[in-house]
Amino acid sequence: MATSAPSVSPSPVLVPHAGQGGGSTAVVGLQWGDEGKGKIVHLLTESHDAVVRYNGGANAGHSVVVRGERFALHLVPSGILHAGVPAIIGNGVVIDPDQLLKEIHTLESRGVDCGNLIISDRAHVVMPWHKAEDEARERWLSEGSLRPIGTTKRGIGPCYADKVQRGTAIRVGDLVRPELLRERLKVICPLKTTVLAALAAPGHPAEVYDAQHVANQCAAWALQLGRHVRDTSALLLEMLAAGKRALFEGANATLLDVDHGTYPFVTSSTCIAPGIATGAGVPMNVVGSILGVVKAYSTRVGGGAMPTELAGELADYIRQRGREFGTTTGRPRRVGWLDLVAVRYAARLNGATGLSVMLLDVLAGLDELKVCTAYQTPQGRVDAFTPDGAWLDHAKPVYQTLRGFSGDLGSARRLGELPPGARAYLDLIENVVGVPIRFVSVGPDREQTIEVA
Ligand code: IMP
Repeated sequence: MATSAPSVSPSPVLVPHAGQGGGSTAVVGLQWGDEGKGKIVHLLTESHDAVVRYNGGANAGHSVVVRGERFALHLVPSGILHAGVPAIIGNGVVIDPDQLLKEIHTLESRGVDCGNLIISDRAHVVMPWHKAEDEARERWLSEGSLRPIGTTKRGIGPCYADKVQRGTAIRVGDLVRPELLRERLKVICPLKTTVLAALAAPGHPAEVYDAQHVANQCAAWALQLGRHVRDTSALLLEMLAAGKRALFEGANATLLDVDHGTYPFVTSSTCIAPGIATGAGVPMNVVGSILGVVKAYSTRVGGGAMPTELAGELADYIRQRGREFGTTTGRPRRVGWLDLVAVRYAARLNGATGLSVMLLDVLAGLDELKVCTAYQTPQGRVDAFTPDGAWLDHAKPVYQTLRGFSGDLGSARRLGELPPGARAYLDLIENVVGVPIRFVSVGPDREQTIEVA
C-alpha cells in the first residue's frame, strides 16, 4: 500500500479483491473476536446474494450501525439488515431458540423483515441443560483450582460436545418431528438430570428436566421457527451452481478456534475459513476472497493469555473510546496493543487475501503507539506464534514504537486524508502481516470506511 500516492476509489464499490477460487467471500476475525466483522459483513452484503453463518452460537456478538441506529446481533447473520438478501444460519451453528426468537422479535419491532432468515435443519439446538452444564463446568474448574475458560455461559461447549457424542443431541430438524423427539426426550431428560445433579454445587440442587415439559417447549419453538427451517446446504449448493455469491460471516475468531486457537482458552467451533466447508455444507473452492478483520489494537474477553494486555489509564482510554464492553455479556473487554505476531499467524492460517483494519480512530490522541512484532520466550526471541495457551503464558511482547496521531479520523474517506502517523501505522501492519489492506474503518457508521483500491 503506497501511502504517499494512495490510489483510492472515491465512493466504495465494496467488492473485495478476488483470490484464485470461486466468487464467494469469507469474513473472518484474526484476533480474539469483536474485531468489527459485523460492519464489514454489512458493507459487503450488497455485492453478494446470501449471507451465511457457519460456526458458533449466541456467544458471538456483532454490532452494526445503520443510519445511526445500533443493532446488536448474536445468532442472526448481520446480512439480515439488507432487505431481500437471504440470511442463512448453517449447520455448523448451535442455536438457542429463545435467544434467536428474542432477536427476531427485536429486529421486527424495529422494522427489519426477518422473512429471509433461513435455518439449517442440521444445526444443533442449545438446550437448557447445556447452559446449566456450562455454568457447572466453569465452577468445577475454578473450585478445583484450574483457570476457568471464562465462557459466555451460553451453553456452547456442552452443545457441541453433545453433537459429537451424538445420542443425546437435538437438531433443529428434530424440533419439527415432534413424535420422534418426544420418544428421545424420555431418555435424554433423565440422563441430563442425572449428569447435572452430579455436577451441582452443595446446597444448590440441579434442575429436574421433565420430558413432557421439554417437549412442550420444543413444540412452541417449532411453531415459531418452523417456517425458517430447511436444508441450507442444498439451498447454497443450488445458489452457487447458478453463479450466485455467498458471503460467509465468521463468528468468534481465529485465536478462539477450537483446534488452532489458544487452547484451552478457546470456543468450541471451527471459526477459521476452512470451517465454512463443514459448517455450511459447501465445497472449499467456492470461497475466492478471504477478508481478515483486524482491530487496530487487541481485545480479549474471558480467560487465557494476552501478551500485549494493558492496564490502568491507557487501557481505560482505549476501552472507553472503543466501547469495549461485551455485546453478549456486557463484560469489560481486556485491552492491549496490537499483536502482529498473532495476526500474521491468523492471516496465514486462514489464507487471508485482504485485511480490513477496524477502529483505527480509537487510537487517536495517544502520544505513542506500540505494536508487538516478536515475543521473548524461555526459548529465546521468536516471531512465530504457537497456538497453545500454556506457551502463550510465557510469551513477552517485543514492541516497535511509533509516534501517535491525533485529530478526528472519522471524516477521512481516503488514505491520503489520514494523518501521516496513522498511515505509518497501517503500513507497518501491511508489511509485517504481508497481506494487502482492503478496508480501513474510522468510525462505526457505514460511511466511515476507506476502501483501498
Ligand atoms: P464460549 O464460546 O462461551 O464457550 O466461550 C469461550 C471463550 O471464547 C471465552 O473466553 C469467551 O469470552 C470467548 N468468546 C466466545 N465468543 C466470543 C466472541 O464472539 N467475542 C469474543 N470472545 C468470545
